[in-house]
Amino acid sequence: MTQDELKQRVGQAAADYVNAHVPEGSIIGVGTGSTANCFIDALAASKSRYRGAVSSSLATTARLESHGFKVFDLNDVDTVPVYVDGADEIDASGAMIKGGGGALTREKIVASVAEVFVCIADASKRVDVMGTFPLPIEVVPMARTAIGRKVAALGGVPIVRVTQDGMPFITDNGNEIIDVKSLSITDPRGLEAQINAWPGVVTVGLFAARGADLCLLGTEQGVERIDY
Ligand code: A5P
Repeated sequence: MTQDELKQRVGQAAADYVNAHVPEGSIIGVGTGSTANCFIDALAASKSRYRGAVSSSLATTARLESHGFKVFDLNDVDTVPVYVDGADEIDASGAMIKGGGGALTREKIVASVAEVFVCIADASKRVDVMGTFPLPIEVVPMARTAIGRKVAALGGVPIVRVTQDGMPFITDNGNEIIDVKSLSITDPRGLEAQINAWPGVVTVGLFAARGADLCLLGTEQGVERIDY
């Protein structure tokens, strides 16, 4: 089975989970990325069950609206019973690296409001120790070099993310991203708190303080549910 087929499986499994556990008329929190897209496409079949969605990126908003979902501003929403999103890596505690698509800040905001965080991932994302996937940090542009020095002092290798044209990658919030290579993240909560405290950091793509509550993991044998 290809990675895309595994993503479609977990997307469908997440839609089944939401349809079974989330009350009708709810507003669903929706993540960003290729796996989240599979979830959106699968949930579209039951969209009349929901009032709408809160989105974690402009790309996700466009995909939700293309299916006819109403997209709410988070400021106008009281409760988000579930947030469904992919991950770049997930460890045995449900801590994740996220932000490969650059949407980490809005993802973390929506996740922080949601009652339940459902991670959807193919089996390649499950790791013992995170850090093989470069850790994204969204930064205010004027702090880019100063934060790069702090990253290097931790033993990481900071790489400023660029587009295919070689231009700085700009997030939906108008900021830049530093991808940190060569970290072995043995204390995700500690590292998340440490990096978040640096001036100029908007968000670090470590989701440990608010990790996943459960993961629907796509494997060759089927979709495995892991509760944390
Ligand atoms: C987006 O910024 C990310 O956090 C994604 O959730 C993560 O990169 C997973 O993306 P894929 O589902 O495309 O692998």
